[in-house]
Amino acid sequence: MRLQDRVAVVTGGGGGIGSGICLVLAREGADVVVSDIDLEGAERCASQVRDEGRGSLTVRADVTVAQDCLDLVGASLKTFGKIDVLVNNAGLFGRRLGLPFTNQEEEDWDNCYRVNVKGPFLLSKAVAPHMMERRYGKIINISSIAARRDAQILPDYTAAKNAVLSLTRVTAKDLAPYNVTVNAICPGMIWSPFWHRLAPMIAAHSDYAGLEPRPMFEKYVKDNIPMRREQTPEDIGQLAAFLASDDARNITGQTICVDGGAAMG
Ligand SMILES: NC(=O)c1ccc[n+]([C@@H]2O[C@H](COP(=O)([O-])OP(=O)(O)OC[C@H]3O[C@@H](n4cnc5c(N)ncnc54)[C@H](O)[C@@H]3O)[C@@H](O)[C@H]2O)c1
Repeated sequence: MRLQDRVAVVTGGGGGIGSGICLVLAREGADVVVSDIDLEGAERCASQVRDEGRGSLTVRADVTVAQDCLDLVGASLKTFGKIDVLVNNAGLFGRRLGLPFTNQEEEDWDNCYRVNVKGPFLLSKAVAPHMMERRYGKIINISSIAARRDAQILPDYTAAKNAVLSLTRVTAKDLAPYNVTVNAICPGMIWSPFWHRLAPMIAAHSDYAGLEPRPMFEKYVKDNIPMRREQTPEDIGQLAAFLASDDARNITGQTICVDGGAAMG
């Protein structure tokens, strides 16, 4: 087990990819703080972490609120005494597709930026003093394939997920002298509540019209992913576990795609 006695905090742990990450980290030996605005989902995931024989704590925190981020760090330290790993996974896309981009509203942009970019900034800032003091830490930011292959239909999301990659490099450089690594993962296409919402939106505005969400997703995967298969939350969890482990101690400021080759175009 690569993460024996480690403590990980995962945001958006009540959702598809976040829950997968929590479970893989737990299987590798970590205790996990499962955080989300959706407390019910977070509790479901925390109970699965306990089924793996690991400790878990559920904290309701909105990553766009600085005080929630500070309280999340405080509650984690109170329960487990340390934080070794932070996974900034909570994220979302706007409510309108950008076809063209003038279709999008200022509030879509603001909301997308707040959750996807400001959230990881606030939480990284909240946890950094602790990691710097211990001279140990691993921060993992979840970006997206949309940052590698501009998603024309989601300009707000594409811009925000690109900003996550910049944030990753900037924070990695600041924290490197303190033995804290910061890396980003770009997931490809995972059938989660995220896609349950996105598929009908795309189907309504494209050649995929008339297809039900799941068949639409399957066709979209075949059309856009060279390996012609979808990714799973556990696929993302496996890379997160590696980046959180000491096997990756000399990897920082990097972006790695788990996307079946989609970034190659
Ligand atoms: N599903 C995909 O195909 C895919 C692909 C690339 C990247 N991603 C990224 O992976 C991450 C997880 O996506 P997912 O597919 O599991 O999505 P999801 O919608 O299933 O889960 C996201 C979780 O984040 C939580 N959340 C939303 N806003 C929050 C906030 N302000 N504070 C705290 N929690 C909040 C939600 O409650 C939800 O539980 C996101 O950053 C997403 O952008 C997803």
